[in-house]
Order: sequence, then C-alpha cells, then structure tokens
Amino acid sequence: MPRADVSSSQLRSDKIGPRIVASDPRQRWLQVFQTVRGETERRAASLSEEDQQIQSMADASPIKWHRAHTTWFFEQFILVPHAEQYETFDERFPFLFNSYYVAAGPRHARPERGLITRPSVADVAAYRAHVDAAVARLIESAPDDKAAEVFALLEIGLHHEQQHQELMFTDLLHAFAQNPFAPAYLPDWQSPRPQGADAGYVKLPAGLRTIGHGDDGFCFDNERPVHQTYLQPARMRHGLVTNGEWLDFMLDDGYVTPSLWLSDGWVTVGNENWSAPGYWRQIDGTWFTLTLGGLRAVDPAMPVCHISYYEADAFARWAGKHLPTEFEWEVAARSGIISDAFGLVWQWTRSAYLPYPGYRADPGALGEYNGKFMINQMVLRGSSLATPQGHARASYRNFFPPPARWQFSGLRLVEYLT
Ligand SMILES: [Fe+2]
Repeated sequence: MPRADVSSSQLRSDKIGPRIVASDPRQRWLQVFQTVRGETERRAASLSEEDQQIQSMADASPIKWHRAHTTWFFEQFILVPHAEQYETFDERFPFLFNSYYVAAGPRHARPERGLITRPSVADVAAYRAHVDAAVARLIESAPDDKAAEVFALLEIGLHHEQQHQELMFTDLLHAFAQNPFAPAYLPDWQSPRPQGADAGYVKLPAGLRTIGHGDDGFCFDNERPVHQTYLQPARMRHGLVTNGEWLDFMLDDGYVTPSLWLSDGWVTVGNENWSAPGYWRQIDGTWFTLTLGGLRAVDPAMPVCHISYYEADAFARWAGKHLPTEFEWEVAARSGIISDAFGLVWQWTRSAYLPYPGYRADPGALGEYNGKFMINQMVLRGSSLATPQGHARASYRNFFPPPARWQFSGLRLVEYLT
C-alpha cells in the first residue's frame, strides 16, 4: 500500500511514549495516541471529583479542565478541519476549553476555571471517549494524501497532552498544599533519587557551539532554527544543588540578605513572606516538604525543588557562582558531562525566553503555541519527575515567569574560567 508519505511520521511515533510495536503506520499512530491519552487517565484515576474540580490559583487549572482542554485540542485542530463526518460533542465546550488561542475563538477566563462545576467529571470522560473514537476513525480512514498532515497535527496534540500531564501533577500538588492535612496523591510515591549528585565541576566545551533541534524528530517551533552561539570557557557543576545546600543558604540568612537579591526578587520575597522553598514547612524544628506522596522530611541529599528564578539567582550569588545560560546547559547535556540533566527537576537558566535568530511562528492559531509568550519569562532546561516518558530532549525549552515556583524547578551552577 503506497503510504510512503507517512513514513517519517511513523518513525517519530516511536519517541513519544513507551515502546510501540505495530508496524503499520496507522496502527502505530493509533497505538501511540491511545498510550498517551491513557497516561492522562492513569494520572487522574485515583482522584475524586472534588480533587478534579479545584483550582487553587489563577496559574493552575483543575484536573477536569486539563482532561477536557487536551481533548478540545484534538477536536479543534484535527477533527473539525480534517474529519468530514465529525459531529462536535458539545458546541459550548470550545468556549470553556480553549486556553489561549485567540484565533480559535472566544474563551472562558482562566482564573475562573474552578468555578465551572458543569460539565461534570463524567461529562468530561464522555467528551474524551467521543473524541478518542473520532480520532481513531480518522487515523484509520484519512486519505493517503492527507494522512501526513493529520499525523503531524496528531503529533503536536500528543506532545501538548504530555505537557498537560506534567501540569496535572504540579497543579494538583499546589491544590493539596492548601489543605492543612497535606494529602498524598499516592501514599507510596517515591521521588526519583539523583544518579550522581556531587558538587564537583566539569569543563564545558567552549567556543562556537551549535544550539537547537537539528534532527528530523519532533520539536516545538521554539527549538528552531538551529544556530551557533559562542560559549565562554567555563565549568558546570556535575550535579544539581541539593536541599542540604539550600538549608545552608537559609541558615546563612540567604532569604533576609538584600544584597543577594534582584530588586524584583527582593520585593517578591517580602510580599510572599518566603523563607524557604515552596511547600516547605517546619514542624518541631524539622523541615518537611509536600511531595506527591504527602508530607515528607526534607532529605538533604535530594535536589532542591519548587524554587523561583529569583531564589535560584540569589542562591547562585550567595555561592559565588552563576546560573548557566540555556546554551551552556544544552551543550553540557548533549556532551553528557553532567548528571541528572533529566528526570528530577527542571533547571532554571539565566536566559530570557527569546526567539532564536530567524524564528517565525507558524501561521494560524497553532502559531500562538509558543511565540507569543516570548516576553517576561525565563528558560528552564531538562525535565522533571513529573515529565512523561518520551517528552524530554536536550533542545527542549520550558519557560515560566521569574516568581513561579509551583513547578518541579531546581538549579545547577556554572563558574567561568576567565
Ligand atoms: Fe494547552
């Protein structure tokens, strides 16, 4: 059967999720679609309807909304334009579940997502089933000359859903942190431990280095174009900064020494009364932190987590070091000279989230995915314990505003040799 037009997409389906075994491209895409969609449901499975309803702050969203919004994404960008017989599940849903795509129509206010008790969790489950069935039919039946375009959109939709899978954990943890009894998402949750946490420094490959996503696998548009950047001679810390070191920073009056802080950071520390990382609380002289397994004693050997850019920057100044640029981080990760680049905590860099030279957002609503946020945010690199399998890569650019600390965010340090 002449399906050469979908072969490149077929290869890329290998990288999204767990091992995919089907050999037919359509079957492979169906399998990876069901695997990624299933992961969302797996993450929500132990949550009550009340757990799925709450929105604990404007930046977070209810679990129910995440499940519906990721579904809307497939409906809006794949089914409506490409599935001829598709019937919209509910004509009111796009208003509720469009996040920020202005070109896709009007939308409900983000800070008020938690006020929407109807549709119910069961309604959202029915919405997901309706869209899943329609996407499966489209994967099976898209004409060969349209399949490559459908699979390319499907790929974006799946990576988008994986981003929301991480947000489900971060938003849920923030909601649970509001509860005086510090509930556990999974009581037997074990956070992954560092592979090679040591405080030694390793030399970075200096000079002109290539940055960005260069192979034919999937990437978001903000990882391109590939370009060259000059790296100064420097050494990067092999391991991540740990809770133990953060306690030293706290004991050394790090949070109350204004000379360590950026002006905006110092104002934020005062306004928010920060004296420790997010979710830390002191009980009878011992520091505890809220994890997905509930309240646990702070382990000095674990990487510090839930810190803002301001805190990371202050710590680096206190330590007499620097935060790396995102380019230094990418070169170090590709070179394999640092440990725990992926899978524990996102690492703040001192790079502002800016377009790479020559970057242009795609036309249309999907062009709003990344480009319009390239202001007032800092880049984080790596991935975290909440990042789903198959979603991390060396060129990946995460980004958040400097005060944000409800993500699984930590840091590593760099020192310069000149
Ligand atoms: Fe989204």
